[in-house]
Amino acid sequence: MSYVLGLDLGTSSLKGLLLNKAGKVVAQATHEYPLETPQSGYSEQSPAHWLIAAQKVIENITEQVPMIKEELEGISFSGQMHSLVLLDAAGTPLRNAILWNDVRTTAQCKEIMAKAGNELLAITKNVALEGFTLPKILWVQEQEPDVWQSAKKFLLPKDYLAYWLTGQYHMDYSDAAGTLLLDVEKKVWSKKISALFDIPSELYPELIASDGCRGVVRENLKNEFGFINDVKVFGGGADNACAALGAGIVDESVGMVSIGTSGVFLSYEETAQKDYQGKLHIFNHVAPNAYYSMGVTLAAGDSLSWFKDTFAPDSSFSDLLIDVRTVNVGADGLLFTPYIVGERTPYVDGEIRGSFIGCDTQHELKHFVRAVLEGITFSLKDSQRITEVIAGKKFDKIISVGGGAKSADWLQIQADIFNAKIVILKAEQGPGLGAAMLAAMGLGWFDSYEQCIAAFVEYKDSYSPIPENVKNYQEIYEIYRKVYRQTNEICHELLAQQSKKQKVFV
Ligand code: XUL
Repeated sequence: MSYVLGLDLGTSSLKGLLLNKAGKVVAQATHEYPLETPQSGYSEQSPAHWLIAAQKVIENITEQVPMIKEELEGISFSGQMHSLVLLDAAGTPLRNAILWNDVRTTAQCKEIMAKAGNELLAITKNVALEGFTLPKILWVQEQEPDVWQSAKKFLLPKDYLAYWLTGQYHMDYSDAAGTLLLDVEKKVWSKKISALFDIPSELYPELIASDGCRGVVRENLKNEFGFINDVKVFGGGADNACAALGAGIVDESVGMVSIGTSGVFLSYEETAQKDYQGKLHIFNHVAPNAYYSMGVTLAAGDSLSWFKDTFAPDSSFSDLLIDVRTVNVGADGLLFTPYIVGERTPYVDGEIRGSFIGCDTQHELKHFVRAVLEGITFSLKDSQRITEVIAGKKFDKIISVGGGAKSADWLQIQADIFNAKIVILKAEQGPGLGAAMLAAMGLGWFDSYEQCIAAFVEYKDSYSPIPENVKNYQEIYEIYRKVYRQTNEICHELLAQQSKKQKVFV
């Protein structure tokens, strides 16, 4: 039997998934690592932890399935996006990685937009946000000139892991798109952006397709892991793109909603030419010559966790959600906006805060819970709405993944609010599945991505919109949309008044 290994380098852990040629998961292992927050708003990680985690995961999986020593054919990756890794001439990290959820770069974002906002949008299809890589590079240039002078290569986390495995510096297009340095349509590093921000060309890794071969596992690691044959290492991709592949998203009529700590509404794009005016991100997909657009709700599952921890700390999530189905659509007039840490799409406002509006003496805990689920879903609907209004899209179905796909009641709410059939995966494996599929494609196991999806991705239940609920939600959504417009000033004043202007990630 032949095997592929997908390594998903996340923010809190590295997860390995071993699949066979029939698309079956035969082993998995996870190893966690810490996040460092040296100051409020800072979020860093030591690249050394990723390597230790990868080593442990590979060893663990080899113990579970010893025959992979002979039969593992390929490895590929999924990775947290945007996080900056700077290496010296010997390939050693010069400092901790600055992660995607680090918000120290507000000044650099303003500087980038003032200097090159229109060009940036035209070339990279995105506006500058604190999470992206270019603002982090500028921060290092300004605040740590010695580190910048010694920097000889920049990478993203999964590319550093691949460098460790192969000794080669590469970055795939889907992750390169999140740096704000890629000409997304031409698929080359933008000379213009590099020149504007003084980034020497030697710093860039070579670009590679997500299913392109980076090389083979280095001799010393091959011996250490006990691999008998050469194991090919393939490009891999950004975690959101890999999650989309693992959910089978290679078609414009199928969307994906992912509700984890944050929430993502993602849709496949055949071209990068839809003018979302920076309101949605556009990145290269892991599938060749394709793209995806994406809107982000910063506190999706996080809003529900916050609500549970604050108001029902002794309940489990399933207990908390048990009575949701007994509450009417619209939570009997109670609305929640999930802006508890600011919001990215569609407002890019770090100082907006959440609210419950319409509280009434008849409301019980279950009304508040339903309102939280509905508010999170409305916020993701804002991203769906942008694709519908600007690109005229209509989704036949939406694949729901993450924590939001674990409650049948919430899935029905999603079907009714998105007004689309919601489908869930049989055995959800997250972005690691997409990573393993990229290795399978790179090895030529399948002739097309559609064939690969047919072998690796299995769907389970579906939820159809209920016309009466759809109509109700359409009216309530219009009221929901007014809340931001009519409360943002109050929120900003409240924050200013408390003079707690805590920087938050947008
Ligand atoms: C996407 C983003 C996050 C990270 C998480 O723009 O910042 O979804 O990819 O790993």
